Amino acid sequence: MTEFPVPAGLERAYQLIQTELNHVTDLLGNTLRHYYPEIDAMVRYSFLLGGKRLRPVLLLLVGKATGGVTQEHIRAAAALEMIHTASLVHDDILDGATFRRHLATINAEWDPKSAVLVGDLLLAQAMLVITPCNDINVYRLLSHACFTTCEGELLQTTTRSRFDMDLAQYRAIIAGKTAALLECACRLGAHLSGAESAIIEEYALFGQRLGMSFQIIDDILDLVGNEESTGKTLGTDIINHKPTLPLIHYLSHCGAGERTDLLAILASDTISADQLAAIRTLLKESGSIAAARAEADQLLTEAVQQLDKSVPVATQEQKASRLALEEIAQFVQKRNH
Ligand code: IPE
Ligand code: IPE
Ligand code: MG
Ligand code: MG
Repeated sequence: MTEFPVPAGLERAYQLIQTELNHVTDLLGNTLRHYYPEIDAMVRYSFLLGGKRLRPVLLLLVGKATGGVTQEHIRAAAALEMIHTASLVHDDILDGATFRRHLATINAEWDPKSAVLVGDLLLAQAMLVITPCNDINVYRLLSHACFTTCEGELLQTTTRSRFDMDLAQYRAIIAGKTAALLECACRLGAHLSGAESAIIEEYALFGQRLGMSFQIIDDILDLVGNEESTGKTLGTDIINHKPTLPLIHYLSHCGAGERTDLLAILASDTISADQLAAIRTLLKESGSIAAARAEADQLLTEAVQQLDKSVPVATQEQKASRLALEEIAQFVQKRNH
């Protein structure tokens, strides 16, 4: 299995769980193989280079902060990364994206039909890999997170082009499609350490707020980010008529004329590169990108406050893990990939 790049600023956080993360990587590498070479090629491909491994990292750090990492944490972390990757493989079909993690997407390298099945296979494999945990709650939590992720993506699909959507609707979409898995990572980390339910819920809320913020920043990057650093196709939200926070903010604050003009462009099936660039400038200059950033910052502040609320950690290792979770929140705020 290829090494994945540690995000800048998170070296210390990743170092803390390096051994455990290597076990997760080994488990992914050993599990994601297939007897048939054609299937093997596709399944392995989905993990080439790898992503940031943020969900396994959260699960392991919360595990460490609440007691210690066990074999069950390793398995659950691998399952979560498989579910996340499956959601990306499917998402790239939905969004018509052609590259991800600095490589051609499976739908582009092979075809969308194969990508549907690779995603399904990864989901099934995730359920298999946690079987030895013998813990029905792990199944329940992972299945619930899968369900909510699909629900979020479906909600997004059914609200395409509704640029007048209110913030509550936007928040429901991102809570489902993105925050659910980060929340689940934290919940599982604490659950598998045998933490009390109140503590589990505190860490889950940290993950939820972090996840909401993570998606808002992602939506900002889709508009004003750089494809070279993100390693994925950007600009797909506008092309696919997805209302995201900067646009919703702009449209609810601009004058009637500007609103009519922008809605006419957004309704078109062929938005040119020049029009896209003009929208970017509009969103930046009007302060709508900054307003979306402010909401992401507020959520991250809430996430960190949530950590402060959770029970005091006892050992040095637990303290270091808690600090690492804060560093992840800082990373999300500044991330450009
Ligand atoms: C991408 O998630 C999908 C979103 C929820 C925005 P990541 O940015 O964590 O993707 P990888 O795993 O690092 O590629
Ligand atoms: C998040 O939405 C995708 C998933 C929950 C799978 P996006 O469509 O914004 O994610 P990216 O930008 O393609 O990674
Ligand atoms: Mg996408
Ligand atoms: Mg995106």
